[in-house]
Amino acid sequence: MTDTQKPKLRSRAWFDNPDNIDMTSLYLERYLNFGLSLEELRSGKPIIGIAQSGSDLSPCNRHHLVLAERIREGIREAGGIAIEFPVHPIQETGKRPTAGLDRNLSYLGLVEALYGYPIDGVVLTTGCDKTTPAMLMAAATVNIPAIALSVGPMLNGWHKGERTGSGTIVWKGRQMMAAGELDDEGFIKLVASSAPSTGYCNTMGTATTMNSLAEALGMMLPGSAAIPAPYRDRQECAYHTGKRIVEMVHEDLKPSDIMTLESFRNAIVVNSAIGGSTNAPIHLAAIARHIGVDLPLKDWQTHGHHVPLLVNLQPAGEFLGEDYYRAGGVPAVVAQLIAQGLIQEGAMTVNGKTIGDNCRDATIEDDRVIKRFDDPMVKDAGFLVLSGNLFDAAIMKTSVISPEFRQRYLSDPDDPEAFEGPAVVFDGPEDYHHRIDDPALNITPRTLLFMRGAGPIGYPGSAEVVNMRPPKYLITEGISALPCIGDGRQSGTSGSPSILNASPEAAAMGGLALIQTGDRVRIDLRKGTVNLLLPEEEIAARRADLEAKGGYPYPASQTPWQEMQRNLVGQMNTGAILEGAEKYQRIAQT
Ligand code: FES
Ligand code: MG
Repeated sequence: MTDTQKPKLRSRAWFDNPDNIDMTSLYLERYLNFGLSLEELRSGKPIIGIAQSGSDLSPCNRHHLVLAERIREGIREAGGIAIEFPVHPIQETGKRPTAGLDRNLSYLGLVEALYGYPIDGVVLTTGCDKTTPAMLMAAATVNIPAIALSVGPMLNGWHKGERTGSGTIVWKGRQMMAAGELDDEGFIKLVASSAPSTGYCNTMGTATTMNSLAEALGMMLPGSAAIPAPYRDRQECAYHTGKRIVEMVHEDLKPSDIMTLESFRNAIVVNSAIGGSTNAPIHLAAIARHIGVDLPLKDWQTHGHHVPLLVNLQPAGEFLGEDYYRAGGVPAVVAQLIAQGLIQEGAMTVNGKTIGDNCRDATIEDDRVIKRFDDPMVKDAGFLVLSGNLFDAAIMKTSVISPEFRQRYLSDPDDPEAFEGPAVVFDGPEDYHHRIDDPALNITPRTLLFMRGAGPIGYPGSAEVVNMRPPKYLITEGISALPCIGDGRQSGTSGSPSILNASPEAAAMGGLALIQTGDRVRIDLRKGTVNLLLPEEEIAARRADLEAKGGYPYPASQTPWQEMQRNLVGQMNTGAILEGAEKYQRIAQT
């Protein structure tokens, strides 16, 4: 590309603007004081932001502080200038009341940084669950050239010769404690074993899911999502990512060229094949809305449900992050799907090539970890989208329904995909923790557990609490899971077969607000319905009664942001974004 063909850099408006020389001098003056020279700033070199998500508060992403050095070297090598800046931290397990609250806050902060400062292109340092969608959402809104770099998963965890996976081992340990098989110290030791190095969760939780999907969307260098954090290859990838973003700026390759309807559909298909998190539909909907792509929740069932599970990672399977990378990572999975015509091969990616060209010839290096298409872990592994008088939309990951669970709950000879039972209702996670082992609730193997008050408004940001364990007395009888339904989310590291992300939530006066303990509910997976078995008049009377009392009650906000988010946030089926923010899409072009 000759110099005259290169797109004009937006940073020139700050540093090289002959029409506004006094402002230019002001802008230039303060950027000099950390070591950049006048010559560099006025050289016409692209200014590349490194959106730094790593910090001591964000241990999952902390290794980006190291990787940023290699990103910088790549940027400089390719003729760019690196400017690193912090993004609002999000740590999935440490943030109260829930990390879900901070995705939209981090998004807002990054939009302001990318729009308001002299940045021509940006490296998004992704990792822990919500950091990836938050940054992709911001890149979608501002629409300047952007490339994501995953921090990568931790090394595999081991305990007594067995792999221990992030999160998954916590759910298992809690059950073992409840059954009296583990004491406090043993529990802590077991959990600690799952975190042997720097990096994010090594299971197929939301972090591995969202980074795999960022690659499937085309926003990350091919083959890079799965590289474990401490590996040499991760450093090399950081360098190449830095080099590549400079070229992307010269090519003017923007998020809107990459994140198209085709690439979102590809991401849905890949999510089924990897056994991705139930948080993915929320985050993908959010990214899609900010880039202006229409991606209704129903698309998950239409394009994803029939796709088999190919990746044998915990919680659905056996292996962990290192195994996933060695077996071939995302390209090996995509190659299997391409061979079946399930991928739109023409979708563009950050390296300037299509996903078809990047992945078509990728091979599986270990078919215990990445299964071949004709020998999958599970058939029809995607989500079902359910509706009924309790909610307009909710999802269920049917691939985690164990044969034992299916036998116990879905074996009605007249209707093998249906289940009916009495409800026990909890109002938020605290209520559940206080009462779950109370014998007065009379929870039996036929009970359906309900969690409400856990959606984007009720528990601001939405809590990952729908996967509820049965009471201890049932666990000791060998009942390890009950059907759970709720307006909250569920950790991607949990293998619980729940119906979740129910929208609208109880706090928005969805049907869940009206259910009472003891009501009977029918789930019909074949019809895709979940219904409260009560006459319509009774439901209407309960609604009128609750509305007269001021609606479904939820705790007061504790911080200004909680209140602001509650006032602006939408429901999970449409991405739980700040409603109205989507109209600022592509602001850098306007
Ligand atoms: Fe951060 Fe799992 S808690 S990646
Ligand atoms: Mg999570």
